[in-house]
Amino acid sequence: PRLLIIDTDPGVDDAMAIMLAANSPEFKLVGLTTVYGNVPTALATANALRLLEMAGLGQDVVVAQGAARSLKAGTDMERIADFVHGADGFGDIGLPPPKGTAMDCSAAEFIVRTCRQHPGRVTILALAPLTNIAQALMLDPQLGDKWESLVILGGAFFVNGNVNPAAEANIFGDPDAADLVLGSTSNLRILGLDVTTKCKMSGEEIEELKGRGKYGTFVRDISQFYLGFHREWHDIDAIYLHDPTAMVAVLQPELFSWQRGAVRVATDGVTRGHTVMDASPKGFHGDHGWAAPRPRVEVALGIDSGAVVALIRD
Ligand code: BDR
Ligand code: CA
Repeated sequence: PRLLIIDTDPGVDDAMAIMLAANSPEFKLVGLTTVYGNVPTALATANALRLLEMAGLGQDVVVAQGAARSLKAGTDMERIADFVHGADGFGDIGLPPPKGTAMDCSAAEFIVRTCRQHPGRVTILALAPLTNIAQALMLDPQLGDKWESLVILGGAFFVNGNVNPAAEANIFGDPDAADLVLGSTSNLRILGLDVTTKCKMSGEEIEELKGRGKYGTFVRDISQFYLGFHREWHDIDAIYLHDPTAMVAVLQPELFSWQRGAVRVATDGVTRGHTVMDASPKGFHGDHGWAAPRPRVEVALGIDSGAVVALIRD
């Protein structure tokens, strides 16, 4: 089978993506690498271990802890979205601590080592700020030729962000890392709010998960706090399925329409974290240094959301 590493900040929707991965025989999940975002990094590690133990994968899948701060961290602490996912990242439902521990190797080292050991066979699914992926590329600038693919959940290309009008949360978490990664290789795909906000599960559908399958009750329980945030701030009686949608992009990329173009990330000012894509068919008269040296990556601009949501729910 093809190998899969998930870089994650669990997180309610991260948990859904990881459970979907654990149920996908097309891929062998080999590692979870952790980073700050929905929760601080140490808690992301504990949550990754909890999820693997719950899925019965505690022995087979390693956890490698990653960066606790963004690449150019200043004096402010990173933005932690505890108001979206709860202080514990899983809706504050009072889960017991995990039994296992993380491996003795950083996330970036684990990513580089695994891609070198299995050239052309490793897919990396990045569901959080891109610090670990950027650090892996700093360790090995040719890493993009060694992974099979990198699929990134992040960005808001032709729609508003979710941190502010300009920026989506994962890119906002480390815009410098995102700009580095998106400038490093053409061998990557990125999907953001343009498509993930078309994938929702209603309060009623979440309720119906109770008692269903191996993870139904757990997903229902951890989603209540997340649902409350969506009701209050997005004015919908539903949750967005961001991260599991990205896992579907790994499993069935044909359910999305992809367009190639250079992407740059604003790293300063009021648009910090904004992802700008060149979606023009012929480029511009005079590039003025905007995209000329940039690789053209694949960006998801369309989606068969009915099929994607059905796959996630099932
Ligand atoms: C992304 O930010 C995090 O809150 C979610 O887990 C997802 O990865 C959505 O903007
Ligand atoms: Ca996430």
